Amino acid sequence: TTATFRQAWVEEDVRRTLPTRNRSSHKGTYGKGIVIGGSRNMTGAITLTAKAALRSGAGLLTMAIPDDIYSVVANRIPEAMQHPCPSENGSFAGDIDFAQLDIDAIAVGPGMGRTEGTKRIVQTVLEQDVPVVLDADALFFWNEYASFVKKRTSPTIVTPHPGELARMLGVSIHDVEKNRFGVSKQFAMDYGLYVVLKGPYTIVTTPDGKQYVNTTGNPALAKGGSGDVLTGIIVAFLMQHDSVQAAVSNAVWVHGKAADFLVQKGHSPFSVLATDVIDAISPVLFQLR
Ligand code: APR
Ligand code: MG
Repeated sequence: TTATFRQAWVEEDVRRTLPTRNRSSHKGTYGKGIVIGGSRNMTGAITLTAKAALRSGAGLLTMAIPDDIYSVVANRIPEAMQHPCPSENGSFAGDIDFAQLDIDAIAVGPGMGRTEGTKRIVQTVLEQDVPVVLDADALFFWNEYASFVKKRTSPTIVTPHPGELARMLGVSIHDVEKNRFGVSKQFAMDYGLYVVLKGPYTIVTTPDGKQYVNTTGNPALAKGGSGDVLTGIIVAFLMQHDSVQAAVSNAVWVHGKAADFLVQKGHSPFSVLATDVIDAISPVLFQLR
């Protein structure tokens, strides 16, 4: 293996690498993204992802959701476009025709459920020549596309919590937790992808094994929906950064900082919701730029 490169990712790094919002820009400048997910039992997750992406500067954002849940989801975010997909029993049951969409980055997985429909859509997503974020249920069938991911030429980003990474690797959660750096580095290098191993001190590992440790976040984030928000920030930042590592590390930093901001402003970590974290993205970005 290679020499060890580990670094904390701190505010100074974010200030140095976060793009600016140009006076002469238009929505196309900031990219067209799509977030894919949702199912009848989990309509909130993909909503959180989409809203977080929009709060993080995405130029144009489309939500691809099973058409069974279209009416409930489409109602929630007037700024997002909708791409209703064929569905069965509240879950995806068909494919997405990316040829008719003009997309710069994709996030897939939040609230999708672990169905054959999920498997099929994730495979199609991985065939697209754009940066792809795999999260949550999109990680469930990892073994089905692991070898395909190795052959991708566009960046692939996976965002597992320790339980998800353990399952992907066929090891125990304890095996992951006792060697978070080593396990994620090996995984990133084996498959040529970016690994975001979540938890306190989230580690971002690049395909060449460099590791960046996040310095923000608190237990207010230990709540369902936090990961869905992170995925939205990541996909939006991918659309706006040249460096994938900077995009991902900045997203993780801003996500944690939004939670820190809320607690500093007198919100209890008991009470902070994923929705509140989305609303705190704006003041955090305001302080940076
Ligand atoms: N300190 C700092 N950050 C934390 C802490 C903590 N104590 N606890 C959690 N976080 C952060 C993590 O670093 C991560 O960014 O909150 C986020 C939690 O993400 P997930 O574990 O993916 O949680 P969740 O939003 O519930 O995921 C939703 O995806 O993982 C699946 O099964 C899960 O279906 C569920 C869905
Ligand atoms: Mg999650």
